[in-house]
Amino acid sequence: MRWQWSTTLLHAVAWLTLTSSGMATSPFSFSVRSDVNTSEIYPSTRLTRYGGWIPSPVVYNSFIHKHRVIASGRMSNGSAHIPAVAEFERAIKSDPVMTELWNQIFLQVSPLNQVPGFDGLLYMLDQVLVEPPSFHMARDAQGNIIQGESIGVPVYVLMDLLANTGAAHDLFRMPAYAAALKKMLNSWGTYLTSPDSNKTLTDDVEGWFGPTALASLQSADRGTFDSTYVVPNPNMTSRGFPSFDAFFTREVQDSARPILNPDDSSLIVSACESTVYRIAKNASLHDQFWLKAQHYSLYDMLNHDNDLATQFVGGTVYQAFLSPQDYHRWRSPVDGVISKVVIVPGTYYAALPDEGAPADDPDFPEGDPHGAAIRSQAWIAHSSARALIYIKSDNPKIGLMCFIGIGMGEVSTVDVTVKKGQQVKKGTELGMFHFGGSSHALLFGPQANITFADDVQLDTHHKVMSTIAQVS
Ligand SMILES: *[C@@H]1O[C@H](CO)[C@@H](O)[C@H](O)[C@H]1NC(C)=O
Ligand SMILES: *[C@@H]1O[C@H](CO)[C@@H](O)[C@H](O)[C@H]1NC(C)=O
Ligand SMILES: *[C@@H]1O[C@H](CO)[C@@H](O)[C@H](O)[C@H]1NC(C)=O
Ligand SMILES: *[C@@H]1O[C@H](CO)[C@@H](O)[C@H](O)[C@H]1NC(C)=O
Ligand SMILES: *[C@@H]1O[C@H](CO)[C@@H](O)[C@H](O)[C@H]1NC(C)=O
Ligand SMILES: *[C@@H]1O[C@H](CO)[C@@H](O)[C@H](O)[C@H]1NC(C)=O
Repeated sequence: MRWQWSTTLLHAVAWLTLTSSGMATSPFSFSVRSDVNTSEIYPSTRLTRYGGWIPSPVVYNSFIHKHRVIASGRMSNGSAHIPAVAEFERAIKSDPVMTELWNQIFLQVSPLNQVPGFDGLLYMLDQVLVEPPSFHMARDAQGNIIQGESIGVPVYVLMDLLANTGAAHDLFRMPAYAAALKKMLNSWGTYLTSPDSNKTLTDDVEGWFGPTALASLQSADRGTFDSTYVVPNPNMTSRGFPSFDAFFTREVQDSARPILNPDDSSLIVSACESTVYRIAKNASLHDQFWLKAQHYSLYDMLNHDNDLATQFVGGTVYQAFLSPQDYHRWRSPVDGVISKVVIVPGTYYAALPDEGAPADDPDFPEGDPHGAAIRSQAWIAHSSARALIYIKSDNPKIGLMCFIGIGMGEVSTVDVTVKKGQQVKKGTELGMFHFGGSSHALLFGPQANITFADDVQLDTHHKVMSTIAQVS
């Protein structure tokens, strides 16, 4: 902790020197804050609710610090941005409203923020968007590893505190902003399907098959990697995945995720490997979002389709989120017929700004501003880029239900692999998330009397295709 504090301080000084000496000029204000002792704020805790999205403070700060050092060097060099970042910069700086909102974000952000202004962020993105995600080892001054964790969603880590501002809430919801950002993220998505992106699929200390990473991929009772997933070549360290995307969208072996009682049409299975975020009964057509009490508003979730939304009024919403370590494909929770598929373009990294973690937060101290997007998941289900897959269940007691795949950050592509009219069985693949943080929801109408299994509680992790509920 002491190391983390002192290097952060040193680096803040270096960055200020750099900007005040005129080597780099920026129309954006730099506000480097170094007046906070992070080790006093964070207890050493194992993050659970933020499940794999937010690394522990040591790793989080070390990751940002590493990128600040490289960005600072490139900025003093006057290095050009990579094409996708340069295009994003042009889109923002040619628009006075978007430019001003970025200024406001840096004025409003928590003093814990370590991203040094919009230009600094662009230089950091230059590095992140040409690399596959990896693990990150925080080291002490002698280079010894203190702690290592996955940076499962690196751009999210850069955006995390910035998103928790009123200005970001306004900016990130602008369709022109979301489109510019998505274009930049898509160039990363293309890279992640390239052969070069397999370079973190190694057993190096920061690789995905190193000891720290494998332990995390196999945690929460997920099973050993080779016996759980479909592995192209178990003899290779990379397991033969040709790209990071292939690794991320890996298939699961049927024997590792069996469906118990597949013929019992009253049982509903988990569509994703995920951690329960919220279960809400008696859903409303329209609802308002207040800071703490986020209700579900069916009309907004279902992209303003009044006829379909009305059919779910009074029904049940089940929402659960996926960690970067989880399996990323979606499986049908019921037997039935696909009645409609809708892809909704939406926001990336947008959050409901809040006053920080609540008093009963399992991971962060009360008032900690990190993780607002994770706390905003109910709201994100109404705003994010998402896929709506309506399924008419063969069991009339279930009737029409809807699966919603919700992209939350990073590339966030929702890829539907079923078509209208297609018959699906429980466990049939519906689609997948390409790289990104994600959540999902299941909607049931008022006709479906859904009882969740006793072990389906908030913050519990459930394997894909395990039984989560029964209709009676
Ligand atoms: C930060 O807080 C920790 C815990 O109270 C303390 O041990 C450490 O000395 C502080 N660091 C500085 C630079 O004040
Ligand atoms: C400056 O740029 C060159 C070439 O782009 C690079 O090799 C060098 O490491 C950069 N310097 C710093 C301090 O990053
Ligand atoms: C892996 O190695 C085993 C034993 O050497 C061999 O029998 C098998 O064919 C190899 N598998 C692949 C996919 O290369
Ligand atoms: C990545 O793929 C290339 C072939 O495209 C292969 O030569 C290389 O060994 C692979 N890297 C890893 C870490 O498996
Ligand atoms: C469901 O919500 C409606 C409208 O808010 C309310 O009138 C009704 O009493 C609620 N039903 C139950 C069972 O809570
Ligand atoms: C819903 O199911 C539960 C559990 O089987 C049952 O106790 C309850 O009476 C049912 N409610 C209705 C309205 O049918």
